[in-house]
Amino acid sequence: MQSVADPILVVDGVSYSYLDKFPALVDVSLTVRRGEKVALLGANGCGKSTLLKVLDGLVFPDAGSYHAFGTAVTEQHLEDQQFSEGFRSRVGFVFQNSDAQVFSSNVRDEIAFGPLNMAMPLDQVKRRVDDTLEMLDIADIADRAPYQLSGGQKKRVAIASVLVMNPEVLIFDEPTAALDPRTQHWLMELIVELNRAGKTIVLATHDLATLETLADRCAVFSEDHRIIADGTPEDILADRRLLLSVNLIHDDDPMHEHPHMLIP
Ligand SMILES: Nc1ncnc2c1ncn2[C@@H]1O[C@H](COP(=O)(O)OP(=O)(O)OP(=O)(O)O)[C@@H](O)[C@H]1O
Ligand SMILES: [Mg+2]
Repeated sequence: MQSVADPILVVDGVSYSYLDKFPALVDVSLTVRRGEKVALLGANGCGKSTLLKVLDGLVFPDAGSYHAFGTAVTEQHLEDQQFSEGFRSRVGFVFQNSDAQVFSSNVRDEIAFGPLNMAMPLDQVKRRVDDTLEMLDIADIADRAPYQLSGGQKKRVAIASVLVMNPEVLIFDEPTAALDPRTQHWLMELIVELNRAGKTIVLATHDLATLETLADRCAVFSEDHRIIADGTPEDILADRRLLLSVNLIHDDDPMHEHPHMLIP
């Protein structure tokens, strides 16, 4: 079994406000260990996507620190090309909105973009792109324009453009949102498979039904942008009072999937 002892992403006491006036994270600490599947859970607007952006070095804390693989991830460090390329090849982010992620004129170029940017030899890029197209079952749309594809197809292309870099850590923002049931099932299986193959997974969700499959551990945000609980999906799902307090369930929620959560 793979060791989960090694902390690879460490967020310590991080606060962040947009434009210095819209709080998104308040004194948030989170440690992600190698090989884990961690879910960030919380109501709309609590700060999940912002924390994922911190983890991907897209947003920099106003206070507190973020270290990845033992090195501080700061704006200044990311200006260093070598550090930036190393970090970006080890951590991949699948955005919630695929439109923000696909921009090339055809799917093949889209997927080749990252490897070409890393100055990978052309024959190796071609092999990697072909393997990734195959893996995501999108070889048939390789020559199409990404912006003309359906939402689910765009999602596959966005995931392909991240996986082609073979990152150690995969970050997914609301992976199953807006997908049909079959595609949702496919993506959940893919995430579990990738984790089995050794990838560390961090994702944001408010979908309680997928939690036990997608996470070994979940960190729960309160609506005032703090992490107020951290535990196994079983423990978190059993804590109805907690879920009510953070607005993840409401009073008359039937909770069919988890009848043990009903307080008599
Ligand atoms: N670009 C922005 N400018 C100003 N405020 C922002 C911006 N992005 C997010 N916020 C604010 O930061 C807070 C946290 O937002 P965030 O997107 O991280 O929440 P979330 O938990 O991902 O929500 P959701 O479940 O709706 O995706 C919210 O109050 C939001 O209004
Ligand atoms: Mg979000």
